[in-house]
Amino acid sequence: MSRSRREFLRAAGTLLGAGLLRDVLASPGTVPGAMAGMPMRATAARLAAPKRPLVNPATLAPFVDPLPLPARARPVGQRAHPAWPGRLLPCYRMEMRAFAARLHRDLPPTPQWGYAGSAPGPTIEVERDQPVLVEWANALPARHFLPIDHTIHGAEADKPEVRAVTHVHGARVPADSDGWPEDWYVPGRSALSRYPNAQDAATLWYHDHAMGITRLNIYAGLYGAWLVRDAQERALGLPSGDCDVPLFLCDRLVGRDGQLYYPVSDDPAAPWVMQCQGNAVLCNGKLFPYLDVEPRRYRLRLLNVANSSFFELALTHGLAFQQIGSDQGLLPAPVERSQITLYPAERADVVVDFAGLAGQRVQLQLHGGGILEFRVGDRGRRDDSVLPLRLRSVPRLDIAAAHDRVLTLGEMDDADGNALRMLLDGKHWSDPVSERPHAGSVETWSFVNLSGDAHPVHLHLVRFQVLDRRPFDLFAWNARRQLKYTGPAQPPPPHEAGWKDTVRADPGMVTRIAVRFEGEPGRYVWHCHLLEHEDNEMMRPYELLPG
Ligand code: C2O
Ligand code: CU
Repeated sequence: MSRSRREFLRAAGTLLGAGLLRDVLASPGTVPGAMAGMPMRATAARLAAPKRPLVNPATLAPFVDPLPLPARARPVGQRAHPAWPGRLLPCYRMEMRAFAARLHRDLPPTPQWGYAGSAPGPTIEVERDQPVLVEWANALPARHFLPIDHTIHGAEADKPEVRAVTHVHGARVPADSDGWPEDWYVPGRSALSRYPNAQDAATLWYHDHAMGITRLNIYAGLYGAWLVRDAQERALGLPSGDCDVPLFLCDRLVGRDGQLYYPVSDDPAAPWVMQCQGNAVLCNGKLFPYLDVEPRRYRLRLLNVANSSFFELALTHGLAFQQIGSDQGLLPAPVERSQITLYPAERADVVVDFAGLAGQRVQLQLHGGGILEFRVGDRGRRDDSVLPLRLRSVPRLDIAAAHDRVLTLGEMDDADGNALRMLLDGKHWSDPVSERPHAGSVETWSFVNLSGDAHPVHLHLVRFQVLDRRPFDLFAWNARRQLKYTGPAQPPPPHEAGWKDTVRADPGMVTRIAVRFEGEPGRYVWHCHLLEHEDNEMMRPYELLPG
């Protein structure tokens, strides 16, 4: 091969314009034929050229559509649950269904799938320690509109095409309500889940988790916010109400006909590709929207809900973000940042102060290009919000007696070194459960990244602290399975010093986290949150044993 598939896909991934993408797709390269009789393909496929012409976002008028703000979900009634005898709990019903919406004023409507027929779906707002029930109903069509790879585990041709199961990312939930990937159900069916909400205020999100097709279901639009609120956070006086705005960021490949295009390999029998990068970046489901703001403080909840892109965000006018929270709620203190990088599934809560900018148009920029415009009005209500110097205490976990697990992040390659699938600790999804922590115990997990990419690793059920990242000798590992460090451990920066549920594991590094396994015993999962990896074996079960 003149160019490895990995370099090839990476090069394609850094491009934003559709024209540039076409140039790369047309570049030469040969692929050795697949070996006959193999149960799974033995050679990696190439990225195929899109079958429809893609939009060139640079030709669209920017900032002509208002930023959509997700509706607030309302309970449909009250319902009893055996887990809380003698109580009636608010019950929501969230129906997944097909809909069409314009991503931009000048594009035809885009067919999508969404909770309550919108993407992002309605926001579920809960109060700490007040349990709720949600009936997640699959009312999707019978056929999928994105390319399923039937060679992927869990998505075989004998499985129904359209399957769904919802997981609330970051929620401390009993195993029966966590959205086990194999507990999917077909159109016409639903699942009732219970959420104790016994956790600190945080920006969580719900999304599909169906085995082998999560990347397609989320790409189709199946995601929304789940906000936990509590008295402690409320007492701080942070910007609230309409000055507390969720911002879902994701990228999509959008055709000129408005259709979503999902990238495929050049092998129609095995269309999986190892990453998916778009030509259009959507904020709350819109391309280049604007938001009218007042010259005062706002709280923005930034969520990266992309399949595999990371986002480097900044503001114009010399404005900085005051980051107040990460995945699992408030940081110890605000951290001023001129740029914020978010990997898939990571969140950052920030305060941005538009005071003194009346009449200006401030942009939220991604890799230097505007993706959202804030139009600062020349008048506003008195700003009585505050940005406290201290937000909350985050006591460090005591790891003196912690059990340490060394877990590799790697890929299974073909003879040319191109990835066929991704693995955690060299194991497949269906291998026996190997991570079995006891409830209440503290463990450290060391992610040894053997691959050339950063992977955002997520554990269900728990929150954790980032301990450090440390470079290691890959050759010593490969030769003798020996962990030989080649430099000092790097402590996490201040914006990673709070509670997290997804951590970026850099290539060439051992990334260490400390976890207290709090929750009900049962089966949960941990996985890479690059959805293409998660779907192709980079997900493993873990079992929480009784304490
Ligand atoms: Cu965002 Cu397994 O989840
Ligand atoms: Cu990964």
